[in-house]
Amino acid sequence: MITTVMNLDTLSGAPPRTDAGLRPTADTQAGTAANPPGILLEARGLRKSFGGVRAVRGISLAIPADGVFALIGPNGAGKSTMMNLLSGAYQPNEGEILFNGRNLVGTPAYARARLGIARTFQSIRLFKQLSVAENVMAGFYVHRDVPWWQYVFPGRRARQNTADCRRETLELLQLVGLDALAARRAGTLAYGQQRMLEIARAMATQPRLLLLDEPAAGLNSTEVQFLLELIGKLRRRGVTVVVVEHNMDLVMTVADHVFVMDHGEYLFQGKPHEVQTDEGVIAAYLGGQRKEAAA
Ligand SMILES: Nc1ncnc2c1ncn2[C@@H]1O[C@H](COP(=O)(O)OP(=O)(O)OP(=O)(O)O)[C@@H](O)[C@H]1O
Ligand SMILES: [Mg+2]
Repeated sequence: MITTVMNLDTLSGAPPRTDAGLRPTADTQAGTAANPPGILLEARGLRKSFGGVRAVRGISLAIPADGVFALIGPNGAGKSTMMNLLSGAYQPNEGEILFNGRNLVGTPAYARARLGIARTFQSIRLFKQLSVAENVMAGFYVHRDVPWWQYVFPGRRARQNTADCRRETLELLQLVGLDALAARRAGTLAYGQQRMLEIARAMATQPRLLLLDEPAAGLNSTEVQFLLELIGKLRRRGVTVVVVEHNMDLVMTVADHVFVMDHGEYLFQGKPHEVQTDEGVIAAYLGGQRKEAAA
């Protein structure tokens, strides 16, 4: 169990958090770092290089507190790097990230997860030897306030915690359509099911902000439709969703706001219909042939 908890911390784990639990930074107290009203996360001037590759070149964006924010762009545009910067997998070379009025730069991924930022990965990362239910339960265990010794010598709190986790795990598996497969080993699931399990595990951390990196990749049309409905359900639960996607039908259907990157730089942002008709976007992406995966 200890191994599981530590691994999940690295992946996306998180506690149940409340906005009241977020401590403002000194900057915030001075009034210089507060997010504008209605903005959950704001990035200012983010830069990230890998050796000579300038993956993100001065990106600033503001993610509204409600709804679905899509991040699109051609292969190699820097979308996954942005997700890694927002989730804390990478630290930026320059720039600030303000989340609920707190500057996250320097805050590691596990601590951001505890503040309410969860994610899934472009390349699926599950505990493949664990069951479907255990993958989700691992998310809950990360933030339960039960002394470790109660798991060794089961006490009332640990027993209650386990019962709560089982109940909530089942509820999340129902949400993603995997409840009938709870006992299956995660590694034996079909590809689309594994993507759904990643979302359930991220949701187990009770996020305020959920980052989905190409959740529709490899899904068939029925699964994409299910994903669309699932994202709708997540937003109705009050989760703000950032989705990186190449599936434009999905983006145009589900997104409230679309942000376009190209070559690590800002290209355009607006409502889906505005993005669809922008000549710069069409030239860079929508009208062009998708290049082979660069990352
Ligand atoms: N860890 C890394 N080390 C070195 N280069 C990297 C690393 N991560 C990303 N890059 C490079 O940074 C650039 C942006 O990559 P990134 O994965 O962010 O693009 P992307 O928009 O997510 O592309 P895709 O649509 O293919 O997933 C690419 O040139 C990529 O090769
Ligand atoms: Mg990517």
